This record gives sequence, C-alpha cells and structure tokens, in this order.
Amino acid sequence: MADTKAILKVGDKEVELPIFEGSAGHPVIDVRSLGGAGYFTFDPGFMATGSCESQITFIDGDKGVLLHRGYSIEDLARDADYLEVCYMLLHGEAPTTEQYAEFKNTITRHTLVHDQVNNFFRGFRRDAHPMAMLCGTVGALSSFYHDDLDISEADQRLRSAYRLVAKMPTLVAMCYKYNIGQPFVYPRNDLSYAANFLNMMFSVPAEKYQISDAVERAMDRIFTLHADHEQNASTSTVRLAGSSGANPYACIAAGVASLWGPAHGGANEACLNMLEEIGSVDRIPEFIERAKDKNDPFRLMGFGHRVYKNYDPRATVMRESCHEVLAELKVNDPLLDVAMELERIALNDPYFKEKKLFPNVDFYSGIILKAIGIPTNMFTCIFALARTVGWISHWHEMLSQPGQKIGRPRQLYTGHTQRPFSKINK
Ligand code: SDX
Repeated sequence: MADTKAILKVGDKEVELPIFEGSAGHPVIDVRSLGGAGYFTFDPGFMATGSCESQITFIDGDKGVLLHRGYSIEDLARDADYLEVCYMLLHGEAPTTEQYAEFKNTITRHTLVHDQVNNFFRGFRRDAHPMAMLCGTVGALSSFYHDDLDISEADQRLRSAYRLVAKMPTLVAMCYKYNIGQPFVYPRNDLSYAANFLNMMFSVPAEKYQISDAVERAMDRIFTLHADHEQNASTSTVRLAGSSGANPYACIAAGVASLWGPAHGGANEACLNMLEEIGSVDRIPEFIERAKDKNDPFRLMGFGHRVYKNYDPRATVMRESCHEVLAELKVNDPLLDVAMELERIALNDPYFKEKKLFPNVDFYSGIILKAIGIPTNMFTCIFALARTVGWISHWHEMLSQPGQKIGRPRQLYTGHTQRPFSKINK
C-alpha cells in the first residue's frame, strides 16, 4: 500500500503516482501507471531508477554505508568469514553454528566439476583471457543441469546456488592452471573455502603447497568484500537475464560478462596496470592531469563510483588488509607506495574533491592480489568468484517474489518515422 502520492501534471493531465518508503534509503515513486497516461520515464544508465524491491544489501553512498542483511561490511569483514556471508545473502539471516556447519559441508561437497568440463578448456587458446574462459565454462555448466532444474521450486534454486558458490573457485583455478600449462588441481575437502581455492591455484602434484594463514585470511576477506553490492551493472544483468526464466548458470555467465568491463569489475586489473604504467611517485602528477583532461579518455582506475560519493567502505577495509598482508608477507611493493601517494594526491586535488572521486573497492584489492601471487589478468575472475553469491542471491530473491515479470524497458525513439521502401534491382 502506498505511503503517500506524487501528482504529475503533464499536458492537460494529472497523474497520481504512489510513493513507497523502504526500511532505509530513498523513497520511490511508482511510475508503472505512466504508460497508461501515454508517457515513459527516461533514465539512461538508471541514475535514479529503482529496478526492484530487495532485502539483501543496502548502500548509503553519501555516508559510505554498506549493509548485507543489515550487518555492516566492517563488522562482517572483521568477525565473519565468506561462507557465513554467503549463507546470510542466500537465506536472509546469519547462520547459527549448526547451520554454518551444515552449509559449509554442503558447499565443500559440491566443489568438483563434471570431468567433461576439462574438455571445454581444451578448445581455448593457452593465452585466452581467464575471463573469456570463465564466461564460457560457467555458461556451459547449464548443459549438465538444464534438464533437471525447475527454477520455480525454491529448493532447486538453492541447489543451483550452492553448486555455483561451490564450483566457481574450481573453475577460476582451472582458468589459471590452463593459462600456465599446469595440470588442474582437484578440490580438497579438508581445506577451508579460501585455502581450497589457493591450493587449486598454486599447488602442483610434485610437492606440497604450504598455505600461509595471512594469505588465507586475506583471500577470504577479499571474497567477503566483493560478495554483493546491490543493483550494480552485473547484478542487474543477472536479474534481467533471470527474469526470462533462463537457466541460472547462463544468468551467472551473463553476470561474468558484464563484470568484465573496465568500468566495473575489470577495474582492479586496469588499476594495477595503471599503477605499473605510472611506475614511480614522481610520475603521478602527469597521470592526475591526464585524468582531468576532457580530451583524454584516461581515467584513474580504482577511483570514483556511481553510488559512493564520499568513500567506499570496502576500500577502507581493503586498505587495512593491504598493509597487514604486505607486512606479514614481508612484501615491499613499490606499487603500494605509488598507490598511497596517488590516493593522497587525488584526495587533496580540487577536481577529485569536486567530482567526489574516491578510491573504490578495486583500488587496493589489486595490490593484495598481486602480493598473494595472483597474476593481474586473474583479478576480475576473483571478483566474479566472490560476486557469484550476490548474483545468485538476487536471482533467487527475484524468482521468490510473487508477480515477477520479465524485464522489458522502453525507449525514447528518435529514428525515422515510417517511410516508403524503394526496391533496388539485385
Ligand atoms: C565497481 O556499481 C557498483 O556497485 C560497482 C561495484 C560493485 O561492487 O559491483 O562497486 C564495483 O564497478 C567499482 C567501480 C570500478 N570502476 C573504476 O574504478 C573505473 C574508473 N571509474 C569510473 O569509470 C567511474 O568513476 C565509474 C564508472 C565507476 C562511475 O562513473 P559515474 O558515477 O557514472 O560517473 P561519470 O562516469 O558520469 O563521471 C562523473 C564525472 C565525469 O566528469 P564530467 O563529465 O562530469 O566532467 O567524474 C569524472 C568523469 O569524467 N570521473 C573520473 C573518474 N570517474 C569519473 N575522472 C577521472 N577518473 C575517474 N576514475
């Protein structure tokens, strides 16, 4: 039921539009009746458009607030692990000890992929970008489950969700191993989610891989900090794909594809490449000037955000982790010096302050991932691995909602009006 109403005067008409209040954030004006009055709204890039009702994640861009099911990202990064966050995103509440144990056991026992998946990789070039391989292999999972999947059943939706959360680390590690020509490493059920991923990435049959506690903790925290983020581009892609009833594996492949863009999840790879291109602190001013030059397409990767206009709380947590990991691993990475100085200069530059450009989640994650030994071209795969639970939680929530409809935006048409076609002599 609407809380209040807006009256839109347009032409000789007055249209009453219901206004709904959520539990936090901006109220929304329900414009669904506008079509009947002969109008569409127009909001390219959805700068001011709510696409759905959701209870999963709340962001306050001005205050730098990020909540998952009401829990702050700072608390979760400090006191929860990634599987606890996965459980609450999927089920709505933080797990009890017993629920956590059962969930962890279920995920652990779904980490293997069908052995036929190995053959999909054989079709890729060895130097294929890992995100290209991830897009292909995640979508190909549809071929193993499409026939026995009824997405109208909540328990079958959750089973797909568990399979995806469990199998993404295996697929991502396979992309890396295929790139470097090493044999795929099978999952190990005696390891934590993060440790299992690191083992599949870095162990080789010839010797035992020693997992550092600091790296395991950092990896798990990176997963947590990337788990979900409201209706971002890739999550909205998954929702739109899922609204047609498409197979969840195909929907997640669509999310992987959307995340790949450098304006979105591809920014961590682009950010590290940018830091390497800058190379030293004395070259920072040159790049700051380029970022401000309207005629130069260059942007400071890892800065700015559609929603956060003060700071990205994840960047703050990531920054702390960055220092912890580099200190524990005794890594003295000059890129960190460049990153810290770039952050200091940008935060004090009038242009960046006026445009509210602050470091986002991708700014520090690349430095940690590099310190862990993950190659730059794998960064967005790590982001996709972590975000899969967010994507599939939104997919599950959307299909749980009564009256769910296929997404079908309209447009402002500015092309030719109808005109005669002249047949040519062929
Ligand atoms: C993620 O949506 C999410 O939640 C995404 C994400 C998630 O968890 O899912 O948080 C993950 O995608 C983080 C963002 C990673 N992307 C980058 O770091 C790439 C660099 N950043 C930009 O491309 C940009 O800031 C965006 C795309 C992130 C946000 O763009 P907006 O808010 O749509 O702003 P805009 O592109 O309209 O820019 C506004 C102004 C412009 O100047 P004017 O035209 O007004 O003069 O700010 C400028 C831009 O030129 N600007 C930048 C800049 N970002 C914006 N100038 C220099 N460097 C930048 N990084």
